[in-house]
Amino acid sequence: MLAQIKSITENESDLIANLSNVVAIIKEESKLHWVGFYLVKGSELVLGPFQGPLACTRIAFGKGVCGQAWKEKKSLLVADVHQFEGHIACSALTNSELVVPLVKNQEVLGVLDLDSIELNDFKSDDLIKYQEIAEYLTSLF
Ligand code: SME
Repeated sequence: MLAQIKSITENESDLIANLSNVVAIIKEESKLHWVGFYLVKGSELVLGPFQGPLACTRIAFGKGVCGQAWKEKKSLLVADVHQFEGHIACSALTNSELVVPLVKNQEVLGVLDLDSIELNDFKSDDLIKYQEIAEYLTSLF
């Protein structure tokens, strides 16, 4: 997946165009319920390119899984979202979630949010795979 992402983005400088194609590639490959980006704008995360059901537009620093991943500057793998205090339920169908922050020079630029209908759907190899993708994506900003 990373090779495909690199080849489609390396000759394009527009961030939104690139993130849109990245979402399309991940959604197609993974068949996840919801795949998308939230981008840091001031004190909030604002919805970016995504595929899946409609989602909340803004998430405050530290709120939900996404805001918490931003605050902690680390990936959060949530096996059961119903057990995560403060989880923001954009879709009632989501049961597990992986959020990977995009960190460049110690600064969080946004997060990659992956939602699954299955409980406990994300494994440690998924975490590694999406962290590698996220690390590459910081070069596009
Ligand atoms: N569940 C996320 C909110 C974003 S939606 O899942 C698309 C959270 O708790 O931060």
